[in-house]
Amino acid sequence: VTLYVPRDASALSLGAEAVAKAIEAQARQRGIELRLVRNGSRGAYWLEPMVEVQTPAGRVAYGPVEASDVAGLFDADFLHGGAHALALGLTDEIPWLKSQQRLTFARVGVVDPRSLDEYRAHGGYRGLAAALQLEPAAIVQAVTDAGLRGRGGAAFPAGIKWKTCLDAAADQKYIVCNADEGDSGTFADRMLMEGDPFALIEGMTIAALAVGATQGYIYLRIEYPHAQRALEAAIETARAKGYLGDDIGGSGRAFHLQLRMAAGAYICGEETSLLESLEGKRGQVRFKPPLPAIQGLFGKPTVINNVITLATVPLILDRGAAFYRDYGSGRSRGSLPLQLAGNVKRPGLVERAFGMSLRELIEDYGGGTASGRPLRAVQVGGPLGAYIPVSRLDTPIDYEAFAAIGGMVGHGGVVVFDDTVDMAAQARFAMEFCAIESCGKCTPCRIGSTRGVEVIDRMVAGDAAERERNEVLLRDLCQTMLAGSLCALGGMAPFPVLSALDHFHEDFREQRRLG
Ligand code: NAI
Ligand code: SF4
Repeated sequence: VTLYVPRDASALSLGAEAVAKAIEAQARQRGIELRLVRNGSRGAYWLEPMVEVQTPAGRVAYGPVEASDVAGLFDADFLHGGAHALALGLTDEIPWLKSQQRLTFARVGVVDPRSLDEYRAHGGYRGLAAALQLEPAAIVQAVTDAGLRGRGGAAFPAGIKWKTCLDAAADQKYIVCNADEGDSGTFADRMLMEGDPFALIEGMTIAALAVGATQGYIYLRIEYPHAQRALEAAIETARAKGYLGDDIGGSGRAFHLQLRMAAGAYICGEETSLLESLEGKRGQVRFKPPLPAIQGLFGKPTVINNVITLATVPLILDRGAAFYRDYGSGRSRGSLPLQLAGNVKRPGLVERAFGMSLRELIEDYGGGTASGRPLRAVQVGGPLGAYIPVSRLDTPIDYEAFAAIGGMVGHGGVVVFDDTVDMAAQARFAMEFCAIESCGKCTPCRIGSTRGVEVIDRMVAGDAAERERNEVLLRDLCQTMLAGSLCALGGMAPFPVLSALDHFHEDFREQRRLG
């Protein structure tokens, strides 16, 4: 019998290791032989630790399982899909999973992340095989035609970025993966690296063929030790099996890949600070231009993309640009792994084509607030994203539709708040976050964010006249930060602040805050 217990960091934090140990102990006691696979998570975090059993009808799920449930599960013959209070039926038929459109996450939670054979059995390395038949410009064209945009948050067309790098003449080029996932409420990069690390490696290899790079680096968030172990193992295996090195897939083409642990600063997720950090320097933002695609790592042309962007590339090369482009809405093509967190009943990863409404995500997938209280605000796009009021929940999840309401989709993080949220405190938090994480290079961000905290404090504590005076100051400060900051940290911190002022103005009066 084959059993699956996730080794995903969130599942582990919910007790998956103890469950795996209990299963092994019970099996020993009962003299049962089983094969325990440590898979990634399916992303249904409210059901973790979710144990799956392979049956002739398909995989059957049980969850959330605690170590103390394990003996009872054996008694109920769960190894043959037996009935039990925790039984969830066939995994593929769980409505929350069945209605998703898992393109990038198709293998996550399904395969053994350590097994290259399973990766290949589930379509892995078919994209690379296709890319090896193409000229570099044709690979770039496929990515352009697919309409893939940067999933780190800025949504810049990946094909155009790659073309800039391809067209830059140089003796050395680099592929860098930005795996410094720093946005609050986001975990898609982590889940993918833990659950399907070969997809990222294959995507980077294809990118290298496309632009003529021979060396790649993954810059991984230091707070992700499980992803680190998964990547180290996968890189080692890919190297041993000839998928990395001097002769990838017997093609005579070289691509070397190394993992680098990040420095633990939010700003090192900004691409130019990331490059500085990779070069061994302090993570400070560089002026652009020159763009990294022309002068990036060690001054050489560099493609730097997010984990999800790169991990989506194999699918595009394998299935064709049209297959991917057919999903989506408007100029937002393909699918987006949304990460639902905060005050929500069913938190987790929902991958769907662009175009679903925020309401559908929160109500249908999320099941509403965990507290059962009315929903009041949703922050989309990380700590620099705007707070969306309930009146705008019908906005479709699409880069342009969000920009039109003053918001951003960003890396797809969605954090839900109920009516107990204090939006003045949230606005203050945005300024404080910016003050703490600022790299210090430019004045509007370094000093403006600290002044921002003070002005919000005065607004909240003051009488009507004081509040009005300080609001003028705060809005003016936000405009200066928006216009005068060198990078997105100072340049976007005003978004949550302004959205709080515009949609939740009543929270800036002390009377409401005191109840
Ligand atoms: P950006 O708009 O300056 O650049 C986007 C990308 O396109 C960059 O890689 C840039 O080098 C490239 N690019 C622009 N023009 C190009 C051209 N002509 N040829 C080739 N490449 C070109 O945005 P930035 O500052 O890189 O990212 C800001 C975004 O980062 C925010 O919107 C936010 O959503 C996101 N973010 C994500 C975080 C996460 O944890 N994933 C954390 C913080 C912010
Ligand atoms: Fe540094 Fe802030 Fe300026 Fe960005 S906006 S370069 S983080 S000081």
